[in-house]
Amino acid sequence: MGVLEHVAGPLGDFASNSSTGVVVAAGFASFLVLAVVLNVLKQLLFKKPNEPPMVFHWFPVIGSTITYGMDPYRFFFANKQKYGDVFTFVLLGRKMTVCLDTKGNNFILNGKIKDVNAEEIYNPLCGPVFGKDVVYDCPNAKLMEQKKFVKFGLTQEALRSYVTLITAEVQDFVKRHKVFKGQKGTFNVPKVMAELTIYTASRSLQGEEVRNMFDAKFADLFHDLDLGFSPINFMLSWAPLPHNRARDNAHNAMIQVYSQIVRERRSGAVKREGHDMIWHLMECKYKDGTPVPEHEIAGIMIALLMAGQHSSSSTIAWILLRLATRPELVEELLQEQKDVLGADLPPLTYEGLQKLPLHAQTVKETLRLHTPIHSIMRKVKQPLVVDGTNYIVPTSHTLMSSPGVSARMDSHFVNPSHWDPHRWDAGMHNYEDSADAETIDYGWGVVSKGTNSPYLPFGAGRHRCIGEQFAYLQLQTILVAFVREFKIRNVGGKREVIVETDYSSLFSRPLNPAVVEWERRGKGEEAELGPGM
Ligand code: HEM
Repeated sequence: MGVLEHVAGPLGDFASNSSTGVVVAAGFASFLVLAVVLNVLKQLLFKKPNEPPMVFHWFPVIGSTITYGMDPYRFFFANKQKYGDVFTFVLLGRKMTVCLDTKGNNFILNGKIKDVNAEEIYNPLCGPVFGKDVVYDCPNAKLMEQKKFVKFGLTQEALRSYVTLITAEVQDFVKRHKVFKGQKGTFNVPKVMAELTIYTASRSLQGEEVRNMFDAKFADLFHDLDLGFSPINFMLSWAPLPHNRARDNAHNAMIQVYSQIVRERRSGAVKREGHDMIWHLMECKYKDGTPVPEHEIAGIMIALLMAGQHSSSSTIAWILLRLATRPELVEELLQEQKDVLGADLPPLTYEGLQKLPLHAQTVKETLRLHTPIHSIMRKVKQPLVVDGTNYIVPTSHTLMSSPGVSARMDSHFVNPSHWDPHRWDAGMHNYEDSADAETIDYGWGVVSKGTNSPYLPFGAGRHRCIGEQFAYLQLQTILVAFVREFKIRNVGGKREVIVETDYSSLFSRPLNPAVVEWERRGKGEEAELGPGM
């Protein structure tokens, strides 16, 4: 073969490959243009007057996925202004109908079981993480019984013991953690608080065996299992992808760990000590008299761990980040402890915790602006007329509620974007639990329906959170211990500056890293150091 042929061969291939490439690219571009044109025409010409307005979008399937995903609240408020409180948008090919404000919250969250359904939406994602026959992998009536078990397990006695356990855990943590070596320094709040949250939850609710395992293998298992909540899994939770394989392995290992704990305890090898949820579930029976099987105890414990971890760790991180913007409030909190509990700051008790309103208000105000769950979804089971409108939502749509929107509206809260724990000075219950609030019992205790409340960080209706009491106790106890130990402020003392929210996972949380300065209080010298540190 001559030299020219050598050259001509590859060049010829290149020429023909590149012309094929151009044809393919041109074909794709025309297809895209056609798809966009048809999509736009469909929106302009074929509006369904009985259906909620559709948020305008250029691309089919993608729809508003990007704008919603980057900042759901900006998206909700922008479209609320354009279309009102009820509108539909396309999220990865699904039609989501959003219903906002108090009426929208009530319509979706207090919807009847024949009309709306949570398990069909959540189980593809949660089933492989929590496991068989628990939470969304069972009929709703069974979930209600499981919620009752947990709620009734959070007895006064149990909660009282948790205050002591959590306090001890925080004290140990701030003594031995590498970021808190010395007298002052900086720390990445979301990362460090995620660690502290899991230690405190596992020591109290999950029990001593689980806590002892956390330093070693449990943390890795938790991490792998958590991969199951990657947003991509809303579509691909079944797919044989590496993160799903890691999730499944971790799930099996964790079920084994919990089942082993139950077996050992049942065998009598472990003396009953403490009030953790495993002991309690071991004693529970369903209405038909069946005790809760091992794999269900394991699944419920995993669900509690996962549900509590993301929401509580993001909330305590936001609390500290907000306090770092206003260090004088940290001093006010310490002063509240001294005024109420005594200048010598005795060990915190459950009763003591109930007497610290500013601590509770700090949690409450943080949950108003930083509720960890920005979107709650339900499947539509039959065509639904939206209260107070002519719109009918067909069964092909998914309903989406965002109580965080009403919590940020100026029609409900004065200067809503301002974080101010003192806005609740007039009373903690002036929204949700007022005396005339409608209440209901879904089988796991009487709860306020929250029908007219603009403030629902724990949701409402049959799927309302059962962890609220525990979360408040955990967050406030950590706050009490933290304020006793440290002063904090933004790096360089900048006031009112705070990181953006990261909406890229299913739970919203502070954008990582979010670093603040800390300084350890000297014994007996708290009063001398001013709020500016
Ligand atoms: C459900 C918020 C902590 C256990 C929910 C829901 C919200 C919520 C909004 C309703 C979801 C829906 O309607 O689809 C929060 C917040 C927390 C928190 C803001 C902390 C600041 C916890 C903790 C636990 C927990 C600590 C466990 C101890 C659950 C469970 C459900 C739930 C099991 C599912 C209930 C169901 O679908 O019926 N949570 N939660 N949560 N939460 Fe929490």
